[in-house]
Amino acid sequence: MRDAREFWDEFYSGDHSVWSGRANAHLAEITGGLSPGRALDLGCGEGGDALWLAENGWQVVAVDISNNALARAATAAQQAGVTAQIRFERHDLSTSFPAGRFDLVSAQFLHSPVQLDREPLLRRAAEAVAADGRLLIVDHGAAPPWAGEHAREHHFATADEVLAVLSIDEAEWELVRIEAVQRAATGPDGQPGTLLDNIILLHRRAQSPHAAL
Ligand SMILES: C[S@@+](CC[C@H](N)C(=O)[O-])C[C@H]1O[C@@H](n2cnc3c(N)ncnc32)[C@H](O)[C@@H]1O
Repeated sequence: MRDAREFWDEFYSGDHSVWSGRANAHLAEITGGLSPGRALDLGCGEGGDALWLAENGWQVVAVDISNNALARAATAAQQAGVTAQIRFERHDLSTSFPAGRFDLVSAQFLHSPVQLDREPLLRRAAEAVAADGRLLIVDHGAAPPWAGEHAREHHFATADEVLAVLSIDEAEWELVRIEAVQRAATGPDGQPGTLLDNIILLHRRAQSPHAAL
């Protein structure tokens, strides 16, 4: 299997942005109603979510394996005037994780066709949530309709399967949203289609026995 860092650096090495630069819709909708605090964006890519969070009052740590992605995100942060609100850190989240506790830990489409130890990483993400904080995982629930046969044969974990991986204690966590939702989208050739996203939103109770403040 290809080296993960090499793969993602190449992915972000072209002349053009890969993503839209806008925040992911579920992240904006869900966090828009929260009081801002400290946020951790796992697999931040070109920084659309990190910028949106910073512009909405959050102090953000944004992490990616790819230096090319982080450089693009840092440039976008500079252009948006939010460099003081975002700290960019390079981590291979299969082997290292940022320090600290956060009011929001977000993993948006943290999928990879190359090595990524998602299960321990998602459990580590839950541990990084402060008391009264939230863990938001948004995953692809299915391949897009315009994807090739190989992607359509792939099993995408359901929201319940991801929840099971987290092994959380419901005395400590409130399950806010565990569901699959549809979203209208446009394919690479302009074709309209419907995407399926899995949303896992957990709230760590304020009186949590295990979360350090
Ligand atoms: C599908 S993209 C999603 C990017 C962004 N969250 C978004 O929604 O636009 C997955 C991201 O995870 C990052 N990534 C993949 N494997 C990683 C790893 N082991 N450690 C840290 N980041 C990783 C990739 O570089 C990429 O930016």
